[in-house]
Formats: sequence, structure tokens, C-alpha cells
Amino acid sequence: MTNAFSLFSTLKDRISSRQARIATVGLGYVGLPLALTISEAGFPTTGIDLNRARVDAINAGERVISYFAEDRIARAIAGGKFGATADFAVLQEIDVVLICVPTPLSPAREPDLSYVVRAAEGIAKWLRPGQLVVLESTVWPGATATVVKPILEAGGLRAGEDFFLAFSPEREDPGNDKFDTKSIPKIVGADDARSRELIDMFYSRIVARTVPVSSLATAEAVKLAENSFRTVNIALVNEMKVAMEAMGVDVWEVVRAAATKPFGYMPFYPGPGIGGDCIPVSPVYLSWRAKDVGSCLPIIDLARGNNDNAPDMIAGRVAVELSKDGGKPVKGARVLILGVSYKKDIEDTRESPALAILNRLEEMGAACDYHDPYFPVMPQTRDHPRLAGRVSVPLTAEALGGYDAVLVTTDHTSVDYQLVARAAPLVLDTRNAFDGRGIPVQGRYVKV
Ligand SMILES: NC(=O)c1ccc[n+]([C@@H]2O[C@H](COP(=O)([O-])OP(=O)(O)OC[C@H]3O[C@@H](n4cnc5c(N)ncnc54)[C@H](O)[C@@H]3O)[C@@H](O)[C@H]2O)c1
Repeated sequence: MTNAFSLFSTLKDRISSRQARIATVGLGYVGLPLALTISEAGFPTTGIDLNRARVDAINAGERVISYFAEDRIARAIAGGKFGATADFAVLQEIDVVLICVPTPLSPAREPDLSYVVRAAEGIAKWLRPGQLVVLESTVWPGATATVVKPILEAGGLRAGEDFFLAFSPEREDPGNDKFDTKSIPKIVGADDARSRELIDMFYSRIVARTVPVSSLATAEAVKLAENSFRTVNIALVNEMKVAMEAMGVDVWEVVRAAATKPFGYMPFYPGPGIGGDCIPVSPVYLSWRAKDVGSCLPIIDLARGNNDNAPDMIAGRVAVELSKDGGKPVKGARVLILGVSYKKDIEDTRESPALAILNRLEEMGAACDYHDPYFPVMPQTRDHPRLAGRVSVPLTAEALGGYDAVLVTTDHTSVDYQLVARAAPLVLDTRNAFDGRGIPVQGRYVKV
């Protein structure tokens, strides 16, 4: 029996008997639900995160992600199969390591793999024969093999022989109550048969369905294909919104009706632009890699441009609507931004178009406030640091009546839309929040 085969068989047995010890590196929106799901499936699981405050909060059983069940973390901690640490030395004890760290864009809007590199370096220090290392963060096709693998192999161990290496992209949709980590099929890919078998076997015990693919790069590309598809379709529907409005047609009604076609059509809804750390980021990774290999993706690049311009278009539209019918110029107007999360019912402002719109309106001279039940205080963000520390204004009839316009940027479920409909003199709605709920607005109502 070769050494590689014996290492493979040992890990296989440990996974099979659920004795294998698992670690996620990163306890964010992806790593934490994943770690909890794995521990709930019976594997002893440790979450590693450099953010000590988050580690402490998790170990104290705090609900650090708002859409989790109240006691989910506390139950996992009490059950003894889950805990968090900031110390990578725990990896000595670990059989399967899942890397779930951020992969944002650099200031030059290019792929930033620095978190992945740092995580891989932290793992390399403790790497031992027989471990399976899995990258889950979104990266460009080829990154696991050319960026992560050399870091892990620097100590002399070989991927596919001494340790195993796989890629399995995250498909988490925060706040989606129809699909969770367990019910979303998991893509699993590796460049060698043993690593592929191990990752497939491991996730078969965690999620309802695995989808094995032939290589690391294929698995990486699947994630970028999914998100680029969304990017292009969101740009398309926002483009149609403008043209159809000029035709006197409500694009929301069109999409709702078109979606009844049982084949060949999938609904995408207009909005103020795209946000989060996935949809705006993945197409950049794909496009960057395409250029790297001498190819190009002009349709994706055009869609990215349209999406990037969407917040400016909305800000411009606010100015136009304010000044209509002898109204007032945007300079000096009071505007309430309703919702700053990038999408409804979650506490996440990464790449949020609402912040870009707020910023642009203030550059145009408007006096903006915001209301968001998920953000009593505006957090620090990379793109809009000057907005940090602002306070969400209470939503009262008196306050609403004092604004020249209320702009709905995020349609959180818990907002009192009836109150807004009664009290605001001008409602500009990027989310179909009022028509969609059948709430008539007493003042002027424009879907933008
Ligand atoms: N959030 C989503 O909806 C989503 C969905 C699918 C895929 N993804 C992808 O998953 C990856 C992770 O995203 P996320 O939303 O969980 O990010 P996040 O910012 O919510 O969490 C990342 C965590 O990793 C920690 N971290 C950073 N560097 C570390 C290191 N070297 N060692 C240990 N911990 C470290 C941070 O402190 C943070 O807590 C990204 O590649 C993202 O594109 C995210």
C-alpha cells in the first residue's frame, strides 16, 4: 500500500465515521453557517477567525448573524461539537480545512487574493500529511492551483499525494429562507481523483446533493458563471426599465407576467444597482482572468458598466423628480434614503448601491438622512468611510413629512410602508415596494 493511498484511506474512514475534525478558516457570512451546518451533521468543528471580538461573541453564543435562529450558535456551543478560536495552532488536530475568507476587489478594482494568501500561509504552517484543504472563497479559474497550492507545498508536502486539495464554491444566499447551506447543491472539484473523492464524500454527509466536476478550475469557473449570469441579467432588466418607462410600460408588470412562461425565462427585477461581495465582484474576477489568458468578455464588461452607473442614474433621477412641477432643486433638498443594506432583510452594506446614491446626492447638494432597521448606526465601509457613525432616523409621520423626497433603496420587510405612503410628500421607489404590496401612496409616487 503506497503512503498516498494509506493517507487517503485513513481520511476516508474518518469522514465516513464522522470522526474527522473540521475547521473553517473565516467565520463570516459563509464560514459561520457552513461550520454550524457541519457540526449539526455530527462532525466536531472549529471556526478560526482573526477577528477576536467575533470569536468571543460566537463562543458566548451570541447571534452574530441576524437571520439565524435566536439560539442556533448557543445550541451548537452547548452541544460541544462547535467552538471558535483565533489560533491557527488548532489545525494540528484538524483533518479537513475549509477556507472561507473574503475575496474583494483591490482599490484598482482588480481581484484581491491577499486574504486567501494569508489564510493559506496560516494553514501551511501547520499542514500535515493526510489533511484535506478546500478553498471555498470565490476566485478566478486557476487560482487554487497557481496561488494556494504552491503556498501549501512550500514545506515539501505534495498535493494529491501527501495532502489533498479541492475547491468547492460557496452558494450561500444570506437571508433566503427557502434555501440554506444544507439544501443548496454543492459543487466539488479537484485536479486529482483522491482529492475529488474525499471532498465529494465529505460534502455528501453535509448537504442534500453534491455535484462533482473534473478540476479545480472548473469548480472555480462555475461560481463565476453563476454570478456573471446574474450581473448580465440585472443590467438587462435595468436597461429595459428605462426604455419601457419611455414607452409607458411598467417593467415590473412585464417581468411578473413574463415569469409565468414555464420555460426559457427567469425573472430578474430592476433596482438601484448591484451590491454585496458576490455579484459585483465575480464578473471582475472572470473578466480579469479572461484578459490574462488573451481573451475577453465584452458582454459582461458592458453589464458591469451599466450596473456601476446605476446609482448615478438613480441620483440623477431623484434630482429630476424633485424639480418637477415647480418643485425644488436637488441642492438644498431634504432626502430620506430608505434602506442602506445591499438587499432586503440582512445587515450587510458591502458594495451597497444605496450608499453610492446617498453619497452622490450629497455631492449634488442634497441633505440626506437614512432609515434602516438593520443599521441604527452606519458602519464603517471601505468605499464610503465618511458616512460611518451616522444614525438612522426614526420613521415617524412628522419626520417623513419634513422630507422633500423619500427614496426606497432597500425594501426591508419590517418597514412600515403604510406610514410612509400616508406621510411622505414624494416617494421614489427603486424596488416596487409600494405597488408590489398594493399600498397606494397619498403623495406623488414614482417608480425609478
Ligand atoms: N456573503 C455571501 O453571500 C457569499 C456568497 C457566496 C460566496 N461568498 C464568498 O465567500 C467568501 C467569504 O465571504 P463572506 O461573506 O463569508 O466574508 P465575510 O467578510 O463575511 O467573512 C470573512 C471572515 O474571514 C475572516 N478572515 C479574514 N482573513 C482571515 C484569515 N487570514 N484567517 C482567518 N480569518 C480570516 C474575517 O475576519 C471575517 O470574519 C468570499 O470569497 C465571498 O465572495 C460570499
